[in-house]
Amino acid sequence: MSFKIKENITWVGKIDWELRKFHGEEYSTHRGSSYNSYLVQDEKTALIDTVWGKFSKEFVQNLEKKISLDKIDIVIANHAESDHSGALPELMSHIPDVPIYCTKNGVNSLKGHYHQDWNFQVVKTGDKLSLGSKDLIFIEAQMLHWPDSMMSYLTKDNILFSNDAFGQHIASELMYNDLVDQAELFQEAIKYYANILTPFSSLVDKKIKEVLALKVAVDMICPSHGVIWRKNPLQIAEKYLQWAGNYAENQITIAYDSMWDGTRRMAEAIAQGITQEDQAVNVKLFNIARSDKNDLITEIFKSKAVLIGSPTINKGILSAVAAILEEMKGLKFMNKKAAAFGCYGWSGESIKIISDKLEESGFRLLNDGIREKWNPDNQAMDNCIFFGKDIALNLND
Ligand code: FEO
Repeated sequence: MSFKIKENITWVGKIDWELRKFHGEEYSTHRGSSYNSYLVQDEKTALIDTVWGKFSKEFVQNLEKKISLDKIDIVIANHAESDHSGALPELMSHIPDVPIYCTKNGVNSLKGHYHQDWNFQVVKTGDKLSLGSKDLIFIEAQMLHWPDSMMSYLTKDNILFSNDAFGQHIASELMYNDLVDQAELFQEAIKYYANILTPFSSLVDKKIKEVLALKVAVDMICPSHGVIWRKNPLQIAEKYLQWAGNYAENQITIAYDSMWDGTRRMAEAIAQGITQEDQAVNVKLFNIARSDKNDLITEIFKSKAVLIGSPTINKGILSAVAAILEEMKGLKFMNKKAAAFGCYGWSGESIKIISDKLEESGFRLLNDGIREKWNPDNQAMDNCIFFGKDIALNLND
């Protein structure tokens, strides 16, 4: 399959309708994904990125239907991660001498992945490569999200090939942002940002402002996953600037795990207390062990405060809670508040363990947390309601 984006620019990637987990088992992809590769034909022909290695034979066979491989003059590797570079070994076995343009870090990553001495050509921000009537201009995007990442801008057609940035894990034959369901599109875009780009928010902000300051026309943004932004393409850059800037909606997420429902009942009583005091705030509850990890991370990303609950077990916390806390630490959320809760039978360390981990992860603790012994009774439930009210009252301090 291929389709024309513009005169002499063709999408030659792979739509992966089956994908349900990405990065091994790390990232849920309920709507599949795509690996977008683009063929730009001018006086010279450039191929921008490839697809995941498992599709490499299919990719090359498909590409051959569009162009004789010996007519490809240039390969651009905007990013070395396997979902975009995986078909390079198959492709380069047919055209071994064709230059691969990438960043200096890209050479290291590609050599590290494939152990090949291909004809690497190192580029840096501002370098221009003439295709004849048009140029490709390269923009390094270090740590967005790998050290090697870069974008390529095609003059005259005014297309930004942004690689992972602005992508979404969506499989769609509709291909363009204005044709797909907008709620699904932005749900997948924010999930992608929350789960992959959050740790690099300050760099995202800087890089987007740097690109916008160039004041070049952008008629289309072609990312390497999901649909192409052609209608008001810079809307996704504006969203990224919002998401990179200590983003929070009027939401509180209460996430917990529970063995015999004591901590769940505490969670519900805390939610009751919050909503009694503040009817506008969107309180959402999640049993961590029963929730999709990446969807939950997205909810945490959208929240101004996060309450994490676990009973105490073996002087520690439940493993699902420990796992999400570890994920939250790595993502380096900014400007969010938090508190801990949980019931216990005898030693009762859980709220201290959770509070310490939240603080270590950059969350501002609202209090020392709340714990209730054994199965919470009426008094304990009232304590939780009061705890929730207190959080609602003091959240904006
Ligand atoms: Fe960083 Fe889509 O790979």
